[in-house]
Amino acid sequence: MYKEPLKAPIGQEKIWAQLQNKAKQKQHLANLLQQPQRCQQYQLEAAGLFFDFSKQLINNESRDLLIALADNAKLDQHKSNLVNGLYQNITERRAVVHTALRTQNNKPILVKGENIVPIIAKERQKMFDFVDQFQAGLLRGVNGDTLDTIINIGIGGSDLGPKMLTTALATAEQCNKVHFISNVDGACINRLLATVDLTKCLIIIQSKSFSTIETLTNAQTILEQLNSRCQGQKAAMQQVVAVTANHDKAVAFGIPVKQIFAFWDWVGGRYSLWSSIGLPIALAIGKQQFKQLLAGAYAMDQHFLNTPTAANLPKMAALVGIWNRNFLQYKDYALIPYAEDLTHLPAYIQQLDMESNGKSVSIDNQLLDYATGPVVWGTTGTNGQHAFFQLLHQGISTTPIDFIGIIANDHSIDNHHHILNANMVAQSIALAIGSGKSVQNPYQYYAGNRPSSTILLNKLDAFHLGSLIAFFELKVFVQGVIWQINSFDQWGVELGKKISESLTTSQTNGIDPCSAKLLQKLQLHH
Ligand code: F6P
Repeated sequence: MYKEPLKAPIGQEKIWAQLQNKAKQKQHLANLLQQPQRCQQYQLEAAGLFFDFSKQLINNESRDLLIALADNAKLDQHKSNLVNGLYQNITERRAVVHTALRTQNNKPILVKGENIVPIIAKERQKMFDFVDQFQAGLLRGVNGDTLDTIINIGIGGSDLGPKMLTTALATAEQCNKVHFISNVDGACINRLLATVDLTKCLIIIQSKSFSTIETLTNAQTILEQLNSRCQGQKAAMQQVVAVTANHDKAVAFGIPVKQIFAFWDWVGGRYSLWSSIGLPIALAIGKQQFKQLLAGAYAMDQHFLNTPTAANLPKMAALVGIWNRNFLQYKDYALIPYAEDLTHLPAYIQQLDMESNGKSVSIDNQLLDYATGPVVWGTTGTNGQHAFFQLLHQGISTTPIDFIGIIANDHSIDNHHHILNANMVAQSIALAIGSGKSVQNPYQYYAGNRPSSTILLNKLDAFHLGSLIAFFELKVFVQGVIWQINSFDQWGVELGKKISESLTTSQTNGIDPCSAKLLQKLQLHH
């Protein structure tokens, strides 16, 4: 089935070898940071974001080779395919056109010969009308009470984006009225039921496939709970809406047709927050802010499409990631937002990056002998500083970091914002420069030379977050194109689902003895 594993992306062998050679060259960030023109060439700005990669272990020669790598990958063709509905997720036989969801003009985009722009507009209007009704207090529950609380049931792409953005953008008061249930662990439902009055909750079942076991189990349990507080399932359904690309399954589940919000198979789950999957976000922040989110993403898309590689934020971020992963061979990368409101951003980017680019087979079905997506992890600063930064500064291995900071303070307590941002910059300097040799003891020594980028948002608002998320999406896209992988499928999650299905239905034939013992201990094996 497979030929020899590929040692480098096809057609890139020469540049790949040159980059491998360059990576052997010893250099220290303390010196690189003093290079003339470092700021001009390694700090870029667009669509409300400032991207500083001056503290990456890249010099002008390696940067030029990386740019050649990108330009050699026919990126122009790929990016135009993406925005014009021509990019294909070949293993799932679907188009990839989520960028159409944020387009700000009426230029037709065809998928299988059909213009999707008016279809998107119609569904968005349906969502906005619903938001108006909710915000006007017109939606009523089983006891006639106004629905004023939201329960979002979904997992992965049907949870992480809505949860991350609602937490980042909604006021504390609004946040207290939105609850996210993703894990199938019954403890989540118990905790929720102790907090909310179910008869006043709008229940949103979010699932692209409408067949995800966690989501359907949670939805069923919540419905049973609601049934027990009213006159049965039919009455309870008035509090439920579904967002899905699988209309028939939602109908079969019992959701009335007019309470189903659609999206389409050409929107990947982890790219879906721009679609009706954004409903909880729009309910919490309002339709004007939701429009700003789309406008921010569109601004980044336009920058990406129209800017040469050396000044292109997503492209340069992608190349930095490739340099760190393939040539300096760093296996992971940490994302540290210095903004507590972005507490769910690392988990969101984890899915975006790792589910997209955690692949070991090329689009032509060849095994790869070169690295693809890194392990992504992180938490907010300054919390991380008091937990794991010790290892980042003095541990044996190196983890590149993306710091994310906010320029304008969005709360009234200025001195906190000052301390927060000073800490962020201090960490990037300490990691890059180190302590120098003049320390008394080896345990006080910091070697430095540990790379990071810093991404600044002018403000923590919908526009800038739209731009930031699009920046990461496009970065991951560029990396996938250069690595010649399919960034839009996720076959790696299927086997575990299949085995779990057979275990929950007690089909344990052929299972190994140690796993059988585990099942026995868990009383899952009859
Ligand atoms: O199992 C992975 C996955 O398919 C993700 O890609 C997706 O975001 C998540 O499950 C949820 O899927 P759905 O929206 O179909 O319930």
